Amino acid sequence: MKISVIGIGNVGSTISFVLAQDGLATELILYNRTRDIARAEATDIQQALALTSYRLIVRDGELEDTAESGIIIIVASAPMPKQMQNRSELLSHNSQIMRTLIPPLASYSPNAIFINVSNPVDALTYEILQIARQHTDQIDWQQVIGTGTLIDSARFRDLLSTQLGIHPLDINAYILGEHGDSQFAALSSATIGGEPINADPLRQQMVEDAKHSAWKIFQAKGYTNYTVSLAVKLIVRSIVEDLRYTLPVSVLMEGYCDVFNCCLSVPCAVGRSGVHRRIETRLNEKEVLAFQNCARTVQQQIQQC
Ligand code: 2OP
Repeated sequence: MKISVIGIGNVGSTISFVLAQDGLATELILYNRTRDIARAEATDIQQALALTSYRLIVRDGELEDTAESGIIIIVASAPMPKQMQNRSELLSHNSQIMRTLIPPLASYSPNAIFINVSNPVDALTYEILQIARQHTDQIDWQQVIGTGTLIDSARFRDLLSTQLGIHPLDINAYILGEHGDSQFAALSSATIGGEPINADPLRQQMVEDAKHSAWKIFQAKGYTNYTVSLAVKLIVRSIVEDLRYTLPVSVLMEGYCDVFNCCLSVPCAVGRSGVHRRIETRLNEKEVLAFQNCARTVQQQIQQC
């Protein structure tokens, strides 16, 4: 499958590198506003593959070179100021970037699955869907996916794993809603091997710690790149191999907990045509209210796009 990565900074280059090592793409196109950067990263990755058994073409290109991609990964973003406190600070600059990039990308690859990484991820995923639909009527909501709280869920499961002494992959616990401050843990349905995970104060503290851990990394090194890159790889694998993994990713809401007109993360079965279905997780009353609060937050951001 041809995969294009749009925006080759610290995050886009790491995503490209992990995808190249996975044998999932036959061709990887790296697009960056400054083409020299994309060319340098593509060459570096291509040369690294000489030390592996994977053969694929990794090259830089213009937007037209992304034509007929199976997957397009949007990572383009304004630089993140070191003192940034909230992902929504990137909104006005990044929504402008989407208005420039999405029309040609959607026209060149109307059948692609779009994976959005750029922040604020939920508002921008919604914008990407709206812009793409204005330029081609072939785009379906299922084709536009934000990495959403897959990243936060990984951070939370990592903390839970240490506390419970259980492998993170065996912990069924999701952070849902906004990839931002209003996110919440769906603890009422969280289990390990069928055993419920109680929502005691220690667990609630872990939810907060998981939420803030990104900022600690960000303040020290200026960006986060590893968790998000493996989150993208998991989504890409699920699409390319039609695995239907259940992943908490950001997608269009059409009545989930009575929420419409925004993108939020809910567990979704992801496969060849994008989101095959949104899973109706059983949430308690408090969690439903938290989900609706996430919707209000994201809808306010969408109004400012
Ligand atoms: C993250 O949470 C910055 O949204 C990015 O890693």
